Amino acid sequence: MDKRAFIKSYGCQMNVYDATRMADQLRAAGYAIVDEADGADLIVLNTCHIREKAAEKVYSELGRLKGAVGASGAPTMIGVAGCVAQAEGEEIVRRQPRVDFVVGPQAYHRLPALIAGAARGEKPVDTDLDEDKFDHLPAPSRRAIAARGVTAFLTVQEGCDKFCAFCVVPYTRGAEVSRPVAQVLEEARRLVDAGVREVTLLGQNVNAYHGSDGTGGTASLAELVGCLAEVDGLERIRFTTSHPNDMSDDLVAAFADEPKLMPYLHLPVQSGSDRVLKAMNRCHTAAHYVGLIARIRRARPDLALSGDFIVGFPGETEEDFEATMALVAEVGYAAAYSFKYSPRPGTPAAGRPDQVPPEVASVRLRRLQGALASQQRAFNEACVGRRLPVLLEKPGRRAGQLVGRSPYLQPVHVRAEVGAIGATVDVDVATAEGNSLFGAIVERSEAA
Ligand code: SAH
Ligand code: SF4
Ligand code: F3S
Repeated sequence: MDKRAFIKSYGCQMNVYDATRMADQLRAAGYAIVDEADGADLIVLNTCHIREKAAEKVYSELGRLKGAVGASGAPTMIGVAGCVAQAEGEEIVRRQPRVDFVVGPQAYHRLPALIAGAARGEKPVDTDLDEDKFDHLPAPSRRAIAARGVTAFLTVQEGCDKFCAFCVVPYTRGAEVSRPVAQVLEEARRLVDAGVREVTLLGQNVNAYHGSDGTGGTASLAELVGCLAEVDGLERIRFTTSHPNDMSDDLVAAFADEPKLMPYLHLPVQSGSDRVLKAMNRCHTAAHYVGLIARIRRARPDLALSGDFIVGFPGETEEDFEATMALVAEVGYAAAYSFKYSPRPGTPAAGRPDQVPPEVASVRLRRLQGALASQQRAFNEACVGRRLPVLLEKPGRRAGQLVGRSPYLQPVHVRAEVGAIGATVDVDVATAEGNSLFGAIVERSEAA
């Protein structure tokens, strides 16, 4: 019988993507990928270091797994991957000796060798920041892709050169690297060939993409989107996460000109106060962000905007926070993520003496989340009565129901047969509840 491997991912979409690439390697090495830790011969925790809570979760999970055994009764091999692996390296094995190997996000193409070393009891730690990981990874099989569904992530850019004062990503993921256009296209074609209809291009700073175009030059993200739009069978393209300063004119224009590019943009601003933005090293003002949003909305008036916010950054005053609330009121978000500032080891802001008390940050976070939630509700309710194209993705909660996504990334529930998964259908939206829409299919598109 195949050995069983379980990969658990924390953190961002890039970790989810990395988990698929690790799973493909493990399958090639003879493992069956399972979806629970119980009875697994190998467990890989694919970790996140972005906030303290995320990083600490790993150690409590490792504590719980101490006694884990595989199907044969032998102790489960335990590996730690992802951004905690990169940030803490050897320290992880010291703190939790039950860990058999540690592998960073730019080294996981050596997973099979690390597992072999771990089996010999060597406790290998590989946190090299290689830039050619993708040249060494096995391509996924059609079956593996199809099992993952009709939407897929595709990492096109990794690392970050921005060094925001609060953020660990430049340290855990290294410098910005873009994959060549041809490599991205090949992967996209393979995905589409196995039934994928929507790809989300991933990068920590995806709009800074500048991949080799194969003729000695580089292509921008807008140009990459243009190339991907020509892939037959690929119906929808999204990208995340972007930095306001890399939102180039051609990318803004793509929202007007490229029908396959969905009208949804995640564009974090973090704060509405210029003083805080400066201290965060974001290198733009609130007015610049607001002006940029106005330009993007001129290109695509129905754009659904999403963002990230941090409250309680060191030195943030009540007045600074009010500036964030004012920016939110002015911009209007369809969705958003907001966090209490978490001091991260090795980042410039962590050492500042003017940390905001956690109780103060909690109060601000509640107020901000209240405002963002009501904007999200308003956005969803404004969709009631509209006819929206929905890509059907998977069975819904109830029998006879499928759930898909609108162009604005809202989950949409409809009555439909399982056979319709992968089809884009027109839906008359009848109600909005929680973060979901409910409606009825009017007509199958030809693509179905
Ligand atoms: N590359 C993306 C964000 C990556 S991290 C970008 O630049 O927008 C995702 C989000 O986590 C950030 O946008 C930020 O809002 C939040 N975040 C990052 N570091 C944090 C910290 N130390 N404390 C709290 N939130 C943090
Ligand atoms: Fe972190 Fe800033 Fe880079 Fe985003 S742009 S990954 S927040 S350093
Ligand atoms: Fe977390 Fe690393 Fe992503 S720190 S958010 S898993 S890049």
